[in-house]
Amino acid sequence: MVKSVIRRTLFRHPLSAIGGALFLAGGALFVVLLMIEFTSGAENPYRSLVTFVIAPFIITVGFGLFLLSIWMQVRSARRRGERVSFNLTIDPSDPAYMKNLWLFLGLTAFLVVSVIYSGTKAYEATDSVAFCGETCHEVMEPQSVTYHNSPHARVPCVECHIGPGASFWVKAKFDGVRQLFATALNSFSRPIETPVHNLRPAQETCEHCHWPQQFYGDKLVERTYYRTDEENSPWTINLLVKIGGGNPRTGHLEGIHWHMIGTNKVEYIAADEKRQEIPWIRLINASGDTIVYTDPDAEIPDLNDPEVVVRNFDCMDCHNRPSHLFQPPAVALNQALSTGRISKELPYIRSKGLDLLNAEYADRTEAMASLSTGLFEYYQEEYPDLMATHQDKIEGASERLKTIYQLNFFPEMKTDYRDRENNLSHFVNDGCFRCHDGVKQTETGETISSDCKTCHLIVAQGPTEDIGELESKLTGFDFIHPEDIDEMWQEMKCTECHDSESGY
Ligand code: HEC
Ligand code: HEC
Ligand code: HEC
Ligand code: HEC
Ligand code: HEC
Ligand code: HEC
Repeated sequence: MVKSVIRRTLFRHPLSAIGGALFLAGGALFVVLLMIEFTSGAENPYRSLVTFVIAPFIITVGFGLFLLSIWMQVRSARRRGERVSFNLTIDPSDPAYMKNLWLFLGLTAFLVVSVIYSGTKAYEATDSVAFCGETCHEVMEPQSVTYHNSPHARVPCVECHIGPGASFWVKAKFDGVRQLFATALNSFSRPIETPVHNLRPAQETCEHCHWPQQFYGDKLVERTYYRTDEENSPWTINLLVKIGGGNPRTGHLEGIHWHMIGTNKVEYIAADEKRQEIPWIRLINASGDTIVYTDPDAEIPDLNDPEVVVRNFDCMDCHNRPSHLFQPPAVALNQALSTGRISKELPYIRSKGLDLLNAEYADRTEAMASLSTGLFEYYQEEYPDLMATHQDKIEGASERLKTIYQLNFFPEMKTDYRDRENNLSHFVNDGCFRCHDGVKQTETGETISSDCKTCHLIVAQGPTEDIGELESKLTGFDFIHPEDIDEMWQEMKCTECHDSESGY
């Protein structure tokens, strides 16, 4: 005997009600978040994880549960030997359907409200500085710590890293998702790669706050250095740095900020990943002339090669560490000595402190242990009398070394000054001397200005910390190198001697 075919709706299984409710709640969340994404000003790649990963995940789970309910219903009908034709009709006469309808409606109402609530909360959370810097604690720790000690400590990460506007939007979304997976799978590089290739051009980030035509004039920079001798002998240099800029009242462009204001345009090609070697520079000046400078000793990149990137010189090419500055140990020690946080009475403290900070450590714990005991061991050995009279000073110096280390060295991420060039000078890294080295020249042999007075004037210098003892001159002195090295400082780059071995 042929059994008659039963017609039955698929909506009578509880799983289909649960799946359906999840599907709708995920869909509603997606629509709401998409609307917020398009209308809110602030941008954040991580935020889109909620929109493009979590919401679709809820939708998929809902749909999956619904498919599962179909499979279960078909299978159990087969088991019982029934001939059923399933459909998606509304069947109020079926009590099982009616029961699930209430389950479906109740669950949907509950899920839509709670999922949207928690989704928008997650949104707010991912927008915060804490999320960027602390959620991925290990990965971002070096950048987060240095950021909190920078002049931009109150500028949210996203202001510089993403900036306003829609064009970087999709890119940032994909990046955020990729970074999340790299963090979860522990596959990120140590240190994190830099320069950041998807950083927005400065016009769209920095220049929202710093008016590019702003005129800064000259800035007095006061530096006190200490030598590596027993007395930690001081040496002071005061520089009048000609920052300059554009002067809207006089229309005059001058100084260091001359490169990228008005109609001036500087472009360059870098030979290395970190943009430290620059064999080709093109200047288009205010009169519209194009001048190309090249390095006679280097291979000149082929402009037609699609791999070759001509970069527009902007704020970030000098200010590449506006908020993540990893101080070299020599610089940090000079500061600590000049502010009295480390006592100058301790013999060889500049030299010994440098060695301790500059040593390679496997991790933070090992470094802290060495920094705690290192000075005591040294003075016990070399200056045992000092232990009685200067114990508190040695203790204070050890504590300060530990703080300097914590703020600037991140062995777990292999991140410190050695890996993070600072282009704003020419002393620690080549910085300005990447171009202003007297080597790069035009076809007719003109070089880019490298005279010491181009960028700053040395208004006072000498072997003291007390500026009152020094003669000063606003038109600038010729440089005196603190150690007698003849004219070597004129013939070589400062970084050829002042390298990471000597703590710079
Ligand atoms: C004032 C602007 C600014 C702010 C604010 C800022 N950054 Fe950066 N950040 C930069 C610049 C500029 C670079 C590197 C430029 C280069 O060399 O490519 C950078 C680089 C990075 C890098 C790559 C590693 C490195 O050291 O070069 C990470 C990671 C990073 N920032 C994370 C953060 C986090 C997290 C925050 C917030 C806690 C933040 N940034 C805030 C400007 C900023
Ligand atoms: C959201 C606004 C904002 C953005 C975006 C921003 N800055 Fe700043 N910047 C500030 C503020 C505020 C200060 C502190 C001013 C002060 O201390 O007088 C500052 C200070 C500075 C200083 C002086 C630092 C010092 O040592 O005194 C430099 C240089 C600088 N910014 C460069 C940059 C660069 C380069 C960028 C882009 C990567 C940038 N800023 C992006 C707001 C911003
Ligand atoms: C050619 C390199 C170079 C470029 C390009 C450059 N700067 Fe500077 N900028 C400097 C130097 C050098 C200083 C002085 C450094 C110091 O604080 O001692 C400085 C100082 C500053 C200051 C601090 C002024 C003060 O009074 O302390 C700000 C703000 C600043 N720059 C913003 C910018 C912005 C924004 C851009 C891009 C529009 C930019 N800079 C491009 C080299 C540059
Ligand atoms: C990418 C190459 C490049 C880098 C890096 C660079 N400059 Fe320049 N700079 C130039 C060129 C090209 C000129 C124009 C030629 C000249 O003046 O000799 C110039 C001109 C100048 C001038 C003269 C402006 C005037 O009034 O005529 C100053 C000052 C200056 N740069 C300062 C700096 C400082 C400070 C730095 C580092 C923080 C720096 N530059 C980094 C390429 C560069
Ligand atoms: C292209 C511009 C430029 C030229 C040329 C230049 N400097 Fe500098 N110099 C700078 C800048 C920018 C700084 C960083 C100022 C700051 O930290 O605010 C600097 C810093 C210094 C410092 C302080 C170093 C530190 O960071 O503690 C000394 C000393 C110095 N210069 C000496 C010289 C001497 C000597 C010459 C000539 C051989 C020279 N400079 C040529 C731009 C230049
Ligand atoms: C031929 C190698 C050599 C060159 C090139 C050189 N220096 Fe030095 N410099 C030294 C030595 C050696 C000392 C002494 C170090 C000590 O006492 O620990 C020194 C010390 C200094 C000091 C005293 C603080 C310190 O760190 O010890 C300053 C400041 C300084 N140099 C600036 C410069 C500048 C700026 C340039 C580039 C214009 C430069 N030097 C180029 C070898 C060099």
